[in-house]
Amino acid sequence: MIKTPGTMNSVSRMRHKENKSIGFVPTMGCLHEGHLSLVRKAKVECDVVVLSIFVNPIQFGPREDFKRYPRYPSKDKMLARREGVDYIFMPAPPVMYPENFQTCVLPGKLSSGLSGAARPGHFKGVCTVVAKLFNIVEPDTAYFGQKDFQQAQVVKQMIKDLNMNVGVKILPIVREPDGLAMSSRNRYLNDSERKEVPVLYESLREAKRLIRDGCRNTGKIKKTIKKTINTAKYVNIEYIKLLNPDTLEPVDKNDKKFLVVIAARVGKVRLIDNVIVS
Ligand code: PAF
Repeated sequence: MIKTPGTMNSVSRMRHKENKSIGFVPTMGCLHEGHLSLVRKAKVECDVVVLSIFVNPIQFGPREDFKRYPRYPSKDKMLARREGVDYIFMPAPPVMYPENFQTCVLPGKLSSGLSGAARPGHFKGVCTVVAKLFNIVEPDTAYFGQKDFQQAQVVKQMIKDLNMNVGVKILPIVREPDGLAMSSRNRYLNDSERKEVPVLYESLREAKRLIRDGCRNTGKIKKTIKKTINTAKYVNIEYIKLLNPDTLEPVDKNDKKFLVVIAARVGKVRLIDNVIVS
């Protein structure tokens, strides 16, 4: 396990000198099958795999769950090693944000709606830490999950705007057998809430069916999603949006691809999910 940016960067540079490609999976730990699917893909596509575990304080709002965010470093290390991760980078917050840290990356329009609207400052924190991690790890390719679709789009835009030399791969959402998208925050759900949350994916599947059957009436699609989710007592809709996946603007009837994205509050837990329909 590597704890300092200097050591991590020296190791990466050494591996690059040996002509090895580096695949990078940034995480906040509490690893689940979603993260491991990214590691597996990186293992297939790259010579060396680096996984970072860092619960990034600056992407959490003042009333969010930074302090209670689940942390299982020993289990994470075991899982990462089992998947053949070559290097685990696990810095402490003061190492990433020493006293007098002052510079942030401020993302633009793509970050302003959806989770960006619900969590002011969140994507500024994400972009800042991801930019730092990219500079430290110097990966050839970074792997992100589709569940945080907006995050992946915002990061891709940052790479383009700031001429970063990193490729990005977005991999499909990994789901529990009942359809719930895997997320570290699922463990906050109590039993009654957990029983109800598969309704989120069920509603997305219904939307997908409607769109595939030719429906382009966004009002009708949203209404169907809402009706399904509202059968659950503990699930409160935050938003339902039908967007162009590239621009995150509302879909136009001529769009070839629809991103259907939902966010809901279940007790104190905020869950997000999405499907892309082409
Ligand atoms: O998706 C996450 O786990 C985090 O937002 C990331 C990309 C590791 C940055 O802290």
